[in-house]
Amino acid sequence: MDKIRVGLGERAYDIVIGKGASDLAANLTDRANFFVTDSTVAKIWGARAKETMPDAKWFEFPAGESHKTPETVIDICRKAAELRFDRKARFVALGGGVVGDMTGFAAAIYMRGVGFVQIPTTLLAMVDSSVGGKTGVDIPEGKNLIGAFHQPELVLIDPVFLTSLPITEIRCGLSEILKMGVIFDEKLFAELENKPENLTFKPDYERFIPLILRSCELKAQVVAADEREAGVRALLNYGHTFGHAIELLSDFNISHGEGVAIGMCCAGELAVQLGRFSRTDAERQKQAISSLGLGIALPQNCAVPAMLEAMKRDKKNRNGAITLVLPTQIGKAEVVNSVTDSQIASALEAMYA
Ligand SMILES: NC(=O)c1ccc[n+]([C@@H]2O[C@H](COP(=O)([O-])OP(=O)(O)OC[C@H]3O[C@@H](n4cnc5c(N)ncnc54)[C@H](O)[C@@H]3O)[C@@H](O)[C@H]2O)c1
Ligand SMILES: [Zn+2]
Repeated sequence: MDKIRVGLGERAYDIVIGKGASDLAANLTDRANFFVTDSTVAKIWGARAKETMPDAKWFEFPAGESHKTPETVIDICRKAAELRFDRKARFVALGGGVVGDMTGFAAAIYMRGVGFVQIPTTLLAMVDSSVGGKTGVDIPEGKNLIGAFHQPELVLIDPVFLTSLPITEIRCGLSEILKMGVIFDEKLFAELENKPENLTFKPDYERFIPLILRSCELKAQVVAADEREAGVRALLNYGHTFGHAIELLSDFNISHGEGVAIGMCCAGELAVQLGRFSRTDAERQKQAISSLGLGIALPQNCAVPAMLEAMKRDKKNRNGAITLVLPTQIGKAEVVNSVTDSQIASALEAMYA
């Protein structure tokens, strides 16, 4: 098993990655544990997890982003109170990003903060949401508008969970790994270009371990350098400003990872048109995305004016200007604030199938 340290001083923690990592939860016997999971994960993995932690108490909510609400977080806290968990309680998130974000947020506010552990079960949660301490919920006005920074005390990443994960969810995780490659690491990007069919069409789970490891290493470095997103952490939003708009305009029929994939293609096209990125690299990015079974074209319901409007509402914007992350080459990107609406519109025009 491999271990990565997220260097955050007194809030530093380990990410343990490898086959059997989730069994290490059995060692968490020093404090009372409160497990939170969703209905799908409970059905598939609940019995195994209960065997690992027989003394833990449980809370389960219905699976899906639509339950990532303040109400569910209050339910988690009320259940913890009913079960008499005190300030020494440890919350344990077993699930994808939805479970992790809400359990983390509940842990941030229950009795003004208790510790929590992440056991991610989706590829997206393994490479992205379980590391870094961003927690929160959605409200009708927007995704993740309520939340807190609250770092976990341990992350246990066990690739065994991927064996039950639908291929569409695997692709969403691959989209975030590819993102990491484009902004930070050409070698990681090239790994995904190599035999993509072994990652999506006939997944070979051993192959995911080095990809998860590298993505977590990169994310850990970024979080340690810039926990609150004042600088380098903003690069992780690559593809996301376009992606969030695509998710929204498709009424969330296009998932987060799929939106980000198309979003990266839009950002690549824009960067080419601005003379910041080569056409060759943009085509290479498109090819890699497409060979992982992800979309590369803007759907018809994402009309240019609606895209611009949705992108302007992104919470990452400053002073009304759309803030974008644009690549300069595969493995390198920068934050850009100076792009005009008409430049964005012109790139979007080139993105329809
Ligand atoms: N905190 C962060 O830094 C951060 C980063 C990226 C994304 N996010 C958030 O993460 C969420 C998306 O995460 P997600 O894609 O993991 O979604 P998710 O948690 O909804 O999981 C997707 C689906 O897969 C199911 N599932 C989970 N594990 C499974 C398994 N092993 N086998 C079979 N089915 C399984 C879930 O029940 C759900 O239906 C979004 O809410 C997003 O905002 C947060
Ligand atoms: Zn994302």
